[in-house]
Amino acid sequence: MPQILPPNANTFAKWSIIGGGIFLTALVCALVIFARTEENRVGVPVEQPVGFQHSLHSGELGIDCRYCHTSVEVAAYANVPPTEVCMTCHSQIRVGAPQLAGVYNSWETETPIAWNKVHDLADFVYFSHSAHINNGVGCNHCHGRVDQMSAIWKAAPQTMGWCLECHRNPARYVRPREEVFNLAYEAPENQLELGAQLVKAYDINADALANCSICHR
Ligand code: HEC
Ligand code: HEC
Ligand code: HEC
Ligand code: HEC
Ligand code: HEC
Repeated sequence: MPQILPPNANTFAKWSIIGGGIFLTALVCALVIFARTEENRVGVPVEQPVGFQHSLHSGELGIDCRYCHTSVEVAAYANVPPTEVCMTCHSQIRVGAPQLAGVYNSWETETPIAWNKVHDLADFVYFSHSAHINNGVGCNHCHGRVDQMSAIWKAAPQTMGWCLECHRNPARYVRPREEVFNLAYEAPENQLELGAQLVKAYDINADALANCSICHR
C-alpha cells in the first residue's frame, strides 16, 4: 500500500484526517437532502415582505389573474406585478393603512418590493406558461386554489415525474380553453373523451411531449 502519511505522523493526525473525510461526506449528504427538501416545500406558505392576499384580491374581489400577471398568456414567464399595478387601486383604497406600508414605501423610493419566489425550477428545465395556458391546462392544475390562499404555497411538487404524468397522456387533463382561469373547474365524467377531442382540436403534439428535448433544450 502506498504511504499517504509520513511514518512519523502520529495516530491523532491520521484519525483526524479520516474523521474529517467522514465529516465532510456527511455534511455534503446533509446539504443535498436539505437542498432537495427546500426546493420542494409543497404545501408550506411562503412569507412575503407585504401581506398580500390572493384570497382577498382574486377570491373575494374577483380580480382576474391577468390584471396582475399580464404576461401569462403570451410569454414563457408569468410576471409578478410591479408596484404601479397595486397603486392603480391603493392610491385611493386604504391609503395609509399600516398593512400597506411596504407598498407605499416601494412607490415613494422607486424600489421594487422584494417578493420571495414560491416556484423556481432548475435552470436546466425549460418551461413556458403561454404554451400551457393556450392549450387548455388550467392554472389550478399546477398552482391549486390560489384564490383561497392567503400566502401562496407550492401546490404540486413540479418534479420531472409530475410533469411527465401529464405529458405522457395530456387527454387526461386538458380542458376547454375558456376554463383555464376557472380555478373551481372540475374534470367532467367524460374527461378522456373530451380530452382526446381537445388534444386534436388544439393540435397538441401528444407523441412528442415526453421527449427529453421538449424540456431540456
Ligand atoms: C392584484 C394582483 C394579483 C392578482 C389579481 C393575482 N396575483 Fe398572483 N401574485 C401577485 C403578487 C404581488 C405575487 C407575489 C407575492 C406572492 O407570492 O404572494 C403573486 C404571486 C403568485 C404566484 C406565486 C409566484 C411564485 O413566486 O412562484 C402564483 C402561482 C400566482 N400569483 C398565481 C395567481 C393566479 C392563478 C391568479 C388568478 C386566480 C393570481 N395570481 C392573481 C399579484 C396578483
Ligand atoms: C383592483 C384593485 C386592487 C388592486 C390592483 C390591488 N388591491 Fe390590494 N386591496 C384592494 C381592496 C378593495 C382591498 C380591501 C380594502 C378593505 O378591506 O377595505 C385591498 C386590500 C389590500 C391589503 C390589506 C390592507 C388591510 O387593510 O389589511 C393589502 C396588504 C393589499 N391590498 C396589497 C396589495 C398589493 C401588494 C397589491 C399589488 C400587488 C394590491 N393590493 C393590488 C384592491 C386592490
Ligand atoms: C403546467 C403547469 C402550470 C400552469 C398551468 C401554470 N403555471 Fe405558473 N408556474 C409553473 C411553474 C413550473 C413555475 C415555475 C417556473 C420557473 O421557475 O421557471 C410557475 C411560476 C409562476 C409564477 C412565478 C413567475 C414565474 O413565471 O416564474 C407566476 C406568477 C405564475 N406561475 C402564475 C400562473 C398563472 C396566473 C397561471 C394561470 C393563468 C399559471 N401560472 C399556470 C407552472 C404552471
Ligand atoms: C396537465 C398537463 C401538463 C402538465 C402538468 C405540464 N405540461 Fe407541459 N405541456 C402540456 C401541454 C398540453 C403542452 C402543449 C403541447 C403543444 O403545444 O403541442 C405542453 C407544452 C410544454 C412545453 C413546450 C413549450 C413550447 O414552447 O414548445 C414545455 C417546455 C413544457 N410543456 C414543459 C413542462 C414542464 C417543465 C412541466 C412541469 C413543471 C410541465 N410542462 C407540466 C401539458 C402539461
Ligand atoms: C415535461 C418536461 C420534462 C421532460 C419531457 C423531461 N424532463 Fe428531465 N426534468 C424535468 C424537471 C421538471 C426536472 C427536475 C428539476 C428540478 O428538480 O428542479 C428534471 C430533471 C432531470 C434530471 C436531473 C436529475 C433529477 O432527478 O433532478 C435529468 C438527468 C433529466 N431530467 C433527464 C431527462 C431525460 C433523459 C429525459 C428524456 C427521457 C427527460 N429528462 C425528460 C422535466 C422534464
